[in-house]
Order: sequence, then C-alpha cells, then structure tokens
Amino acid sequence: MVMFKVSRVQTTPFDGQKPGTSGLRKKVKVFMQPNYLQNFVQSTFNALSADKVRGATLVVSGDGRYFSKDAILIIIKMAAASGVRRVWVGQNGLLSTPAVSAVIRERTGSDGSRGSGAFILTASHNPGGPHEDFGIKYNMENGGPAPEAITDNIYENTKTIKEYLIAEDLPDVDISEIGITSFSGPEGQFDVDVFDSASDYVKLMKSIFDFQSIQKLLSSPKFTFCYDALHGVAGAYAKRIFVEELGAQESSLLNCVPKEDFGGGHPDPNLTYAKELVARMGLGKSNSQDEPPEFGAAADGDADRNMILGKRFFVTPSDSVAIIAANAVQAIPYFSAGLKGVARSMPTSAALDVVAKHLNLKFFEVLCSIYKLNEVFSPLALEHNSVIPPKCQVPTGWKFFGNLMDAGMCSVCGEESFGTGSDHIREKDGIWAVLAWLSILAYKNKENLNGGKLVSVEDIVRQHWTTYGRHYYTRYDYENVDAGAAKELMAYLVKLQSSLSEVNKIIKGICSDVSNVVNADEFEYKDPVDGSISKHQGIRYLFEDGSRLVFRLSGTGSEGATIRLYIEQYEKDPSKTGRDSQEALAPLVEVALKLSKMQEFTGRSAPTVVT
Ligand code: G6P
Ligand code: ZN
Repeated sequence: MVMFKVSRVQTTPFDGQKPGTSGLRKKVKVFMQPNYLQNFVQSTFNALSADKVRGATLVVSGDGRYFSKDAILIIIKMAAASGVRRVWVGQNGLLSTPAVSAVIRERTGSDGSRGSGAFILTASHNPGGPHEDFGIKYNMENGGPAPEAITDNIYENTKTIKEYLIAEDLPDVDISEIGITSFSGPEGQFDVDVFDSASDYVKLMKSIFDFQSIQKLLSSPKFTFCYDALHGVAGAYAKRIFVEELGAQESSLLNCVPKEDFGGGHPDPNLTYAKELVARMGLGKSNSQDEPPEFGAAADGDADRNMILGKRFFVTPSDSVAIIAANAVQAIPYFSAGLKGVARSMPTSAALDVVAKHLNLKFFEVLCSIYKLNEVFSPLALEHNSVIPPKCQVPTGWKFFGNLMDAGMCSVCGEESFGTGSDHIREKDGIWAVLAWLSILAYKNKENLNGGKLVSVEDIVRQHWTTYGRHYYTRYDYENVDAGAAKELMAYLVKLQSSLSEVNKIIKGICSDVSNVVNADEFEYKDPVDGSISKHQGIRYLFEDGSRLVFRLSGTGSEGATIRLYIEQYEKDPSKTGRDSQEALAPLVEVALKLSKMQEFTGRSAPTVVT
C-alpha cells in the first residue's frame, strides 16, 4: 500500500468566500488562484464536527464542469490529510446533485460504510469553461445542503485561516476507472472508491416509479419524447434511465454528452437558454415542418432543475409542482399511501396551495400546523390569492424544504426556478420531475395507448386549470446589473411600503385596470423545525384580487446583481383560464416596472430573461 505524509501549508485568507444560496460560486480563474480552493475546503473541514471528518466517508463529485477533475484530486489529498477514512467519487468525477443526495442516503460501500457528507462541485445552471464559473458546496448527512449555521461558520473560518493540511505526495487516482485504491497514512488506511455514477440513483428511481407503465408509454407509437441535458451531467443519467431502462430511442436525447464547458451554452433549462429543445417542441421561431414530440424536458448543469414542455406548450414550474401533487397518489407508487404535506417557495405561484386545499384533510392539517408555528411572525392574516396561510411558504432555497422533510411534514415541493422534488432525497431532482410527468401521462393514458386519443401535456394542464383555476405567472430577470443600483431599487421598494395609499395613488396613475394593493411587506420566515429566522427574503406587494408582485435579488449569481421580478394573477373562472399569459399579465407588468422605477435604477429597458 502506498504511504503518504501530511503537510501543513501556510496560507492567508481570501476575501469573499461566503457561500451563497447553494455554495461558493466564482469564476474559474478565481478558484484557480493558489490556495483558493484549499482555503475553502479546510475552512469547511474546520466547521464540521470531528466525526464528519476523522474516519468519515466523504462523497466528492459534481457536474463535470471545467476544473472539476483538478479540484477532486486536491480535495482527495486534503481529505486524506485530515483523517477522512474514504472518499467516494463517481466515475469521471460525475454525480448529479440529486445523485449525490441519493448516494449519501442510500449507498452502502462494500465494507458496509455509509456516506456522511459531500463536496458537490458545481455552479448549477451557470456556464462552465476556463472563463466561466466553478462552484463548491457541502451537503450534510441527510443528503441536503449545509444549513446556514454551518455555512456561516465556514465563512468565518475563511476569514482567519492560517494553514491547511494536504497529502501532497499522495499519487493522483485515476477517477475514470471504477475500483478502490487504498493508501496508508499517519492515521491508518485511506481509500478512494470510484464507482458507477448512475446505479444508486437508478435503483432509487425504480423504487419510486412504476417503470413498466412508463415503458409502455414510451414504446407506444403515439407518444414521442425528447430530453435535453444541455451537455450537463444529466446526460449520464438520461441514457441509462430513458434509453436503457425505459426503451426510449437514442435519438430522443439531445446534448446528452456531458461537457466541461456545456458545449459553450448556458445550462439553464428555460425558454431562453434551452433553445434547441424549445425549437424542437415547436415553441421557438423555427421553420421546421417536423411534428414536435408530445413531451420534452431539459435539465441544468447539475441536473437538479427541470423544464417540462408539451407539444408547442410550456408548463410553468409553479403549475408543474401543483400538477404533480394533484396526481401523485394515483400515478406514482411511492406516494400511494398519501402525501404528508406540500410546500413551495414564497415567489412560486399559489397553484400548489389550491391543490393542497382540495386534497384530503389530514394533508391540509399538516400545512396548517406549519402555519400555526409561524403565525406569531406573520403580520398578514392571509395572503389573498392563497387559501393556505402565507407562512406555509418557505424562502427561496431548497434547504428550507429539507427541514420540513426531515420532520415528516412534506412529501412534494417545488420552486418557480425550475426546481421540483420530493422527500426521496434532500435536493431538487430534474430527472425525478420528468419521471413524475411521464408517470402522470402513463396513468392518464392507461386506456388510450391502444386506441383513443392521447391525453397530452397540454390537456393535463388545461384540465388542471379548469378544476383549480389558473395562476397566470411570469418572471422577469435583470441579470448582472450594477450591485449598488440593485440595492437602491430594493431599498426604494421597501420605503414605498410604508404608505399603501401612496402606492395605490402611484399605481392608479400607471394603470386603472389593476386592483388595490392591500398588503406589502418583506417576506420573513421562521423555520417550524429548528426555529431559525430568515429575514429579507423578498419584497411583496399583494393586491386585493389576489395578484402579487415580488421583487428579490438572486442569491446564485457570480457577478454584479440579478434582480428578479415575479408577477402573478389568479383566475378562477374556467372560461378565462386559456389566455396568453404575457397578454393577461401586461397591466401588472407595466405597474411593476413603473412602480419600481426599474429603468431609472438599472438603466435597463428590458429584462435579460423572461420565463
Ligand atoms: C438554487 C437553489 C434553489 C433556488 C435557486 C434560487 O438553484 O438550489 O433552491 O431556488 O438557487 O436562485 P436565485 O438566483 O433566484 O437566488
Ligand atoms: Zn442546479
């Protein structure tokens, strides 16, 4: 067995190593500075309890973006030096974020070992390559992102770090080869276990969904399918699951070879960046005469996000989670005993709330119990468009769902930012969402595959609107605006909230078609499980008719600031649920832009992305 020594390397702190919503994200060139990554990794080890480092089993992998392989080798050497017992690495350093969560929770090593945490190397949906972004985040034993107490501690450590430990002489392990390599260090044996990236995840998916019924759907000549991994890590799973397990044609996979720079693209599954898929689904300005597939989906770089499309039809993420929740019990075996509860992030539309109300009482009570715990912090009696009290919403960020899931309060949850998932793991899960939709389609078409008309994605969504009403919804993103200007805009919006009569006067001057603002606040949340309080989670303007404007700053950018504006309007009348959403929302959009003085503050006359 090759022996290694431990070196202590002197270092000095770097500014700005504060982990954001999902870890530390910076340009690759920032990460490539000597000691930059090492400082962050050591600061993380120092923030964890000793048993999560000494003798522990650590997962290290990611979405395969540029610099990942170098980073993995550095982390392996640092883990060895800090007394970690073994490191688990997905083959070629690839593991999707949901697969990491599944590996921590489900995988047992050949010697009975279990994972206790993970470094996930990803900047999610941000572009990759030598001039783009890299990222690193730590996930805990439950498979979910580290809570703020830990990330704050990591940040504090980065400000004072003086040295890090590394096994410099540890030979590089070939992470393209499956197998265990063992070394011997001052504290005993250290193993690097390179394993198949997909098998644990595939096994988990097979235990949740009825693969046979999905296979029947996919093999029906009536049903056509298309999946775009945007050259992210989802490709590694798509081939295994959709083609090998479920029998989809290989030609239904687009951009499914993972690439270090995502093929030069922006691996974010939305209508702007998933251009090829959007065109293939008949939604873009393509002149193609080909009949679009019945179903299309895309993932982001690390495969935790998803976009669901039907033929010439876009499903908003807020509707998607509501529709999954409405059909889960019938269509997905994992949920056959019922849902424990559902949750959404605050800016996500209230479509899920309406489903929650229509489901059984037990389910609704769980939501109410979350509310009661939070009531004391809520100045609002009821958010008008919502049948669920407002504090059943969590702030933006998947980690907030994790606590509810650990406490058995939530089965299905989702975010407007193309994240959907369940308590099978503690991350959102892009491929899970696709399998959930395929399950619903399979269920609705049980009788139709041999004869009769196929119930399409669009049919399912329109039927849902007829039953539950429709939440017209759009999001405007202003990316990479001047950080100072963004702050000023937000401060201005908070200041405006002190006088609703002034707000309503301004609004009436902009457009007489919208109703009055009856409440305005900054969203704040008390976690019902651990009691932690998160303030300043978005500025809300709530209208009498249930419409809503929300403004918040993105927590995931790596340059400047990104302002997100969320616009929502509820329509109960089934005869009015079929309008074009941009057209239906036009008056509210105008109000939002003028009320916030968007152009004045940012100099932007149009958003970068509209979804
Ligand atoms: C990541 C998190 C999501 C969150 C999103 C928000 O993707 O995993 O849970 O919704 O960031 O991003 P934003 O840029 O709006 O802060
Ligand atoms: Zn992601």
